[in-house]
Amino acid sequence: MTDHTDIIAIDGPAGAGKSTTAKRVAAALGYAFLDTGAMYRAATWWAMEQGVDLDDPAAVAAATRALPLRMEEHDGRARVFVGDRDVTEAIRSPEVTRCIFKLDQNPDVRAHLVALQRAFGARQPTVAEGRDIGTVVFPQAKCKVYLDASLDERARRRAAEMAGKGKTVSPDALRAEIHERDEKSKTRAVSPLRRAEDAVLIDTTSMTQDEVVAAIVELARRAQ
Ligand code: DC
Repeated sequence: MTDHTDIIAIDGPAGAGKSTTAKRVAAALGYAFLDTGAMYRAATWWAMEQGVDLDDPAAVAAATRALPLRMEEHDGRARVFVGDRDVTEAIRSPEVTRCIFKLDQNPDVRAHLVALQRAFGARQPTVAEGRDIGTVVFPQAKCKVYLDASLDERARRRAAEMAGKGKTVSPDALRAEIHERDEKSKTRAVSPLRRAEDAVLIDTTSMTQDEVVAAIVELARRAQ
């Protein structure tokens, strides 16, 4: 088992820029990138695809344990496969996003996915992002960051990201959705989103992407 010395843990609420930042930090340091939210998304997509009753915790946990998940890089882009199906885009659908909370509060689902995440981190130096990386998955990580930004700014960024994909969503609706996801993540009984005591808080509200990446790379180098 790794002692987690070459793990960088990035946690924070939805829309704080964790994915883009973590990918860039991983590239800068030559580390692997682990998107743990994609794993909860893939498990939810799979349970829905299989017609599992999402309100049945035992059935959902059994489906997760049978999840044939592969996370690979193709042409420098992280792709998620369930069996032979490339579900990279499908796991970001609003239907999946709406239903994840039925899985992410399930202790058996979490135990299984956390074991996969630790195995990934044991194989290679890793930048992992999610909600419980510094608190539960890799508590010994040498470098922990809690990324945050104001709710308005996070909604604005999400709207811009969706506009880039040709989708128009009202900022108010996005704001409400992100707020609801924040509440669910922070108040759930199992592994709630919170900043680890030894995590460095970075408020990205008025920072550029480049500044955030540079700050984390610097923290990682100092932690070495
Ligand atoms: O980061 P994301 O939006 O792709 O995450 C999807 C969901 O998965 C999010 O609603 C919270 C959950 N999640 C979690 O509970 N623990 C993690 N380590 C990562 C994500």
